[in-house]
Amino acid sequence: MKTRILKETEMKEAARILENGGLVAIPTETVYGLAANALNEGAVARIFQVKGRAQDNPLIVHISEMSMLPPLLSDIPKKAQTLAKAFWPGPLTMVLPRSPLVPAIVSAGLDTVAVRMPSHPLARAVISCCGLPLAAPSANRSGSPSPTCAAHVLLDLKGKIPAVLDGGDCAVGVESTVVSLCGSRPRLLRPGGVTAEQLREALGDLEVASGVLHPLSPGERPASPGMKYKHYAPRAEVTLVKGSREAFARYLAQHAGPGVFALCFSGDGEGLPVPYVSYGAENDAKTQAKALFAALRELDRLGAQTVYARCPHEEGMGLAVLNRMLRAAAFRVVEAEKP
Ligand code: TXA
Ligand code: MG
Repeated sequence: MKTRILKETEMKEAARILENGGLVAIPTETVYGLAANALNEGAVARIFQVKGRAQDNPLIVHISEMSMLPPLLSDIPKKAQTLAKAFWPGPLTMVLPRSPLVPAIVSAGLDTVAVRMPSHPLARAVISCCGLPLAAPSANRSGSPSPTCAAHVLLDLKGKIPAVLDGGDCAVGVESTVVSLCGSRPRLLRPGGVTAEQLREALGDLEVASGVLHPLSPGERPASPGMKYKHYAPRAEVTLVKGSREAFARYLAQHAGPGVFALCFSGDGEGLPVPYVSYGAENDAKTQAKALFAALRELDRLGAQTVYARCPHEEGMGLAVLNRMLRAAAFRVVEAEKP
């Protein structure tokens, strides 16, 4: 299959493919999504096939207007209205009680459905133009870093999907925050573009699911099926290194060798004893989020085999960056010794 690259002006062509049950990779403010009509079981099944995604890992349904929400749900909790008012359109996904209108395959058989209203103008335009809720996971092959530009989508899915709608680079760069409103307390399942601090302020309460900052214990049931799977990983073995820039440089001097690379903050790489790729500024987690996935792909392109990465701070958007890096590193973290 030839994969067409559609320009912004060809948005209607993307909508037409979706209406006819096809798949299109579309830009959102977080990452590119591999979209299909969420109400068409066959189309949704092809998403799983194309990505090589585990059947038990549910998808997010994307809408462009509040009027599209009630038909997807069997109940709208008050907290969902609060969060929609505060953060939609934007990088927030809510897990809510699913209505029978949503095919079971979208939710991998769960009685909940994850819904989000993206803010990217092209994503909104496509959804509005076809008038359909769109199921869309990140448009990467399962397990590899999420795509933050059309070229990343092509690296993974060229020849497997009819089209990519090119909307340039994604502004946020990591996936949406996922919060479940189906339990007794609101629960953060995945940190993202809307911070835990912002959610706490809006809700007054928020539990962070285990699996966000620590690996699940053997046999522990994940709060979100996606937590079970290896994700965001480049081919190299990644280890996070905690400590100052100086401690990091000393650590690298002890661990330098063929195929060893550093993943550091911008301005930090100069003078390191190994080649490096940078991922944003130390004190600006938003720039880290925006650069991280491209940096992981760049390390693959350079043939890195072992990567030591400077550990980001945990506040604000830093929590999302840390979560993605921990998963890329399979939770391997070391402390660089002080002199
Ligand atoms: O920013 C994003 O959220 C992007 C863009 C395209 O919107 N999408 C995205 O989708 O990241 P995906 O499929 O890569 O990640 C969805 C995550 C998975 O970890 C999945 O397990 C979880 O959300 N999820 C989806 N439905 C769920 C549900 N009903 N209950 C619990 N977790 C759910
Ligand atoms: Mg994904």
